[in-house]
Amino acid sequence: MAKLKEKSVWFCSECGADSPKWEGRCPACGAWNTMVEEKVKTSSKSIAKSPLGHTPKSTPLKVSEIVTSSEPRIHMPSEELNRVLGGGLVPGSMVLIGGEPGIGKSTLVLQNILAIKSRRMLYVSGEESATQIRLRADRIGRMSDNCYVVTETSLENIFTHIEKVKPELLIVDSIQTIASDEIESSAGSVSQVRECAARLLRYAKQTGVPVLLIGHINKEGSLAGPKVLEHIVDAVLQFEGDRQYMYRILRAVKNRFGNTSELGIYEMCQRGLREVTNPSEMLMSQHEGERLSGCAIGVTIEGVRPFLIEAQALVSTAAYGTPQRSVTGFDSKRMNMLLAVLEKRVGFKLAAKDVFLNIAGGLKVADPALDLAVIAAILSSNVDMVIPSGVCLSGEVGLSGEIRPVTRMEQRVREAEKLGMKQILIPRGALKGVDTSKLAIKVVEVSKVEEAFRHLFA
Ligand code: TYD
Ligand code: MG
Repeated sequence: MAKLKEKSVWFCSECGADSPKWEGRCPACGAWNTMVEEKVKTSSKSIAKSPLGHTPKSTPLKVSEIVTSSEPRIHMPSEELNRVLGGGLVPGSMVLIGGEPGIGKSTLVLQNILAIKSRRMLYVSGEESATQIRLRADRIGRMSDNCYVVTETSLENIFTHIEKVKPELLIVDSIQTIASDEIESSAGSVSQVRECAARLLRYAKQTGVPVLLIGHINKEGSLAGPKVLEHIVDAVLQFEGDRQYMYRILRAVKNRFGNTSELGIYEMCQRGLREVTNPSEMLMSQHEGERLSGCAIGVTIEGVRPFLIEAQALVSTAAYGTPQRSVTGFDSKRMNMLLAVLEKRVGFKLAAKDVFLNIAGGLKVADPALDLAVIAAILSSNVDMVIPSGVCLSGEVGLSGEIRPVTRMEQRVREAEKLGMKQILIPRGALKGVDTSKLAIKVVEVSKVEEAFRHLFA
């Protein structure tokens, strides 16, 4: 038998690269101060054999000879989750659901598996006791006889449980709490996470049982520690949202079996997560009553769905020397650029004003089409004039103040029409070939920021 020798290896906690000695800067990803020491047992038996003359278990096949399994995707009870997965869970795949602590990952998964009736499932929890999970199930109001729960953190024991239960779907909550006896370092370390994930992946591929992993996210917003995990799994879903708001967004960051532009929206309620099938309701709930200055409605597209969202701005006289800029839900650099455009084009006194900007509902929006709504909100607050209700905007703003076309304009206009908007400001020429006279919404084409300003506040 080969003797096991223990040695130190330094792993980068950002990218998972290893090095035989400590380094201040990771040689692979260039991150500073990320190398952590871990003890690893290696076999001292020499493995320096000839690369040829070894008989492997697998044989290469011609692409045309490969048999595709006709096993259909497993339909998840939550439609939002299905869509983000690209139409359901693929048998034998490993999916990672990442998110900050307390965002609702365990709730999302438990809620879904309790609603699956036809499958035997094993929920391995390394964080919560079985009682806590039962309490959560009570709170969600769902029960299942097919779902087995075990509190376990040892990978070897997990495989023993798997042999006994023979699940058709395995859930591991969370991968950072699981450790293998074969590796010296503690649970959550790079080598543990990597090894455990790799072993679970092998299990998934060999048996065709899909594995759902739950993982934590670190302060920087990437999956805690090992980026390697992202390379191993088939799909990475990110569960995110603002703690202050109850809306949660499920986003595919990577998906070998589907589109990554898809988005699922949920609301955390007293009794679990509720699917938000009409995202514009995030805006519409705040829509009643009288309109105030500083609010503008933009039409944005996330994934394939367009929805309306409100940008709120407050512009006030700067009390101190340096004007304040505070942004939530929007890129602050982008806002600074838009402010500079406003100064140049419509005489906005940049240096004399504090500007606060907020995207309603706690969403983070990266769609450039929101530029126009952001500008309108800032101007509205600046001149203290209300943008009439029923008016929305969609368009990108360029450096010289020109309004530029954005993708899928027709879809945006139709969404605004569907939600009862009366008027939409769009970039000139963005709706070429569409007969706007048939629409119930008035389409106003603008080509410059000044033009939009005059139209809104003249
Ligand atoms: P949880 O799923 O434990 O988060 P994670 O697994 O990502 O750490 O969710 C925890 C939060 O969700 C907690 O603050 C309580 C809240 N919650 C509700 O508001 N309603 C519910 O029905 C449930 C189950 C949880
Ligand atoms: Mg949890």
